[in-house]
Amino acid sequence: MKQVKTIQEMRAARRGLPAPGFVPTMGFLHEGHLSLIRRAKAECGSVVVSIFVNPTQFGVNEDLSRYPRDAAHDLALLAGVEADVVFMPTAEEIYPQGFATSIDVGPVAEPLEGAMRPGHFSGVATVVTKLLNIVQPERAYFGQKDAQQCVVIRRVVADLNIPVEVVIGDTVRNPDGLALSSRNSYLTDEERRRATALSRALATARQMVEGGEHRASVLKDAMRDILSSEEGFSVDYISVADPVALNEVESVGVEVLVSMAVRVGTVRLIDNALIRGS
Ligand code: PAF
Repeated sequence: MKQVKTIQEMRAARRGLPAPGFVPTMGFLHEGHLSLIRRAKAECGSVVVSIFVNPTQFGVNEDLSRYPRDAAHDLALLAGVEADVVFMPTAEEIYPQGFATSIDVGPVAEPLEGAMRPGHFSGVATVVTKLLNIVQPERAYFGQKDAQQCVVIRRVVADLNIPVEVVIGDTVRNPDGLALSSRNSYLTDEERRRATALSRALATARQMVEGGEHRASVLKDAMRDILSSEEGFSVDYISVADPVALNEVESVGVEVLVSMAVRVGTVRLIDNALIRGS
């Protein structure tokens, strides 16, 4: 596995890679990332993984400085799944003196996470576009766990004619239902136990739809009941939205994106499910 830090080194490594797949990450890798890398390995001629904690997607009061990092462990995991190249640039390499361009994605970046985290998706869209330009993969892999990020990236790739196929991998969950996330490491044991309420709320919504309930307000109330029965929970939003436009819907049509953001103590968790109504 080749490790590169500069854009020039990455471009030189790219020249020798057959049909690369690309998995961009912020490190502190877990099974969710590894499942994307294994899939890329199976579907592409080679795999590039980036590790870059992108400062422009964090708000001023967010967790950039304490975002979990463990480069040695990440590199061991990447060797285990036989990634071909790992690109680990510095912030100065990606955002040199004078850097000024950013991408404004428009309406799909505005609701949900976009409303709670102003500027977040501009930061994501800008760094992902830069990484795609640097790595020039044939396919790029993202996790459904960050559902709105997936929608935003599909929009950017289509609108800016970036020649890459976007592939979305399923959310990977612990056996108790908690979606894997690097931020789960912030949870205390007790918070970790209570955090299963997010996946329980999604499972309830799915069961209700399967049982014939299609009113979004009724689904949201049932999910809110589950979440608010847990001590120390504060719900940022519960959403039942169109999975492409991300506007809220009143009733479940062919498919909806059910998503939520919840503060469990000081830790903010997101989760979602795509639920088919017919
Ligand atoms: O999902 C992430 O880890 C990040 O948002 C990404 C796509 C690597 C961009 O920094």
